[in-house]
Order: sequence, then C-alpha cells, then structure tokens
Amino acid sequence: MSVIRGLFSRLESARLLDPVAEAVAGAVQTSIPSARIKDLLHGRWLGHPVHPVLVQVPVGAWVSASVLDFAPGGRRAAQRLVGLGLLTAPAAVAAGLADWSELEPDQRRVGLVHAAANTVGIAFYAASWGARRNGRRVAGVGYALLGLSAVGLGGALGGHLAYSQASGVNHAEGAARRAGGEWHDLGPLDEIPVGQPVRRDVGDTTVVVYRRALSSGGGVHVLASECSHAGGPLHEGEVTDGPGEPRISCPWHGSVFRLVDGEPLRGPATACQPVFQTEIAAGRLRARANAEGSVWKNAEV
Ligand code: FES
Repeated sequence: MSVIRGLFSRLESARLLDPVAEAVAGAVQTSIPSARIKDLLHGRWLGHPVHPVLVQVPVGAWVSASVLDFAPGGRRAAQRLVGLGLLTAPAAVAAGLADWSELEPDQRRVGLVHAAANTVGIAFYAASWGARRNGRRVAGVGYALLGLSAVGLGGALGGHLAYSQASGVNHAEGAARRAGGEWHDLGPLDEIPVGQPVRRDVGDTTVVVYRRALSSGGGVHVLASECSHAGGPLHEGEVTDGPGEPRISCPWHGSVFRLVDGEPLRGPATACQPVFQTEIAAGRLRARANAEGSVWKNAEV
C-alpha cells in the first residue's frame, strides 16, 4: 500500500473526528431551508452530484491565476481570477456540504478533512486577493501558492472519497446488468403480500417487490433494492400508495423513488433506481432486467 493510500485509509477510521463531523452535519442539515433547495444542491435535476461540476470554476480560476502570476503581463488577470474563484467557491461549498452531510461515518471523516483543507485554501486565496489589492503582489502570489497547495490536498481527499470510498456514485447501476436479460422466477404470486414491500433475489441481485392492491390499480413492481445513493436496503423502506403513483422511501437517508420507473423524486439520491419488467406465468411471478430502459410495463394481477 502506498504511503498516501495508507494515510487516507487511517483517516477513514479516525473515530475521534466523529463528534465534530456529527455536529457539523447536523448543523448543515438544519440550515438547508427546504427539500427543494436540498435537491438542487444534491444535483437531482442533473442526474448526478453537482458538487464536482461547481468545483471546476474556482479551481480552474485559481490554477490559471498561478500560471499568470509567472507570465509577463499577467498580473491584473491573475488578480481577477483569484477574485472569480472566491466568488464562485461558495456554491461549490454549499453543494459539497449538502452531499457530505448524508454520507456514512467513514466517508464523513475523510470528507471533513477534505472540507477543512479547502477552507484553508479559500482563506489563503482571500488573503492573496487582499494583498494584491493593497499592492503587495509578492505576498499575493505566495498566498495563492499556499492556497493552491491546500486546495490540491482537498482535491486528493475528494478523489479518495469519490473513487475509493464510492461516495456520490450510483450504487444501483450494476444491479440490472448483474441480473442479465433473462426471466427470473420470484415464486408464487400468492406468496407476495399485498401492500407491503418484500425482498426477493434475481440472480445475484436483491430486489424489492411491491404488489399493489387492486383498489389502487393492481400490478407488481420490482426494483433493485440497493439504493442508488449509498446502497441502502429499499426492501426495508416504506411505500406510499394510493390513487396516485406509488413511491418508496429509503430507510437510510430518505430518498424517494417512483415505483413505476425508479425516478428519484427526493434526494439525496440523484440517479434512477433500476426497474424490472414483470409477468405472471402459471401463477408465478417472474422478473427480468428492463432492456427497454425507462419504458416499463408491470404484470397485470
Ligand atoms: S442510501 Fe441514502 S437515501 Fe438510500
């Protein structure tokens, strides 16, 4: 194991960070004024987290500023870029905090240090901008380099969080692929309770099965059970059913998915939950991964 990977792994298990992480996460959760703003920050409208997109602007501006600092005639442009980074960083910070506040403890620990490094970076850039404005260009260039180092460390930790710890990835993405395109037997229909989500297995994939009451329209819904947000067990979730479209909420962080097509109606999940096509054959329920994407047809019961 490389030294850096070893350090990051130790950070994952640094439980002494938990009290701070929990307090900050709680404060972040209560400071988001509405579910709509929360979804906006998570990137539900985009289909994946929006934080990595927003980060491009300040980081790009600051890297460019340091390049221009050492280029002839680049002084004014460099100062403007430092300012641009400071103006655009708050949106990236807000989106990152919203995502971070709903991570698992080991991810939160790394995320906390990621955020701390970036906060130090922002403080250095603020000092850089102030120094440049007061004519202390050399100090401004120096502060910018310190800021870039801190933001670089934050970026490395963010990469570990995203790629090694799989935060922000679609945890349900492989479910339909693993199940393959063939029909799978889920047992006698009579053994599927009405109005209550249950767990079944389609090959190696765990699915949630929900049989609607005839008074609500009937039909059987089958979705991958591993929540696209962080892998929570949807079969332990709660279904809201009635005259409208049934929906299921994840027991871990409360994401809500429409059963008919897996669309996330409430974050933190941003990706669709894979749905399975269903049919009844000789009184038995069968399901297969939906080869037609979001076009779904449930078994008539
Ligand atoms: S695992 Fe987080 S909402 Fe489902």
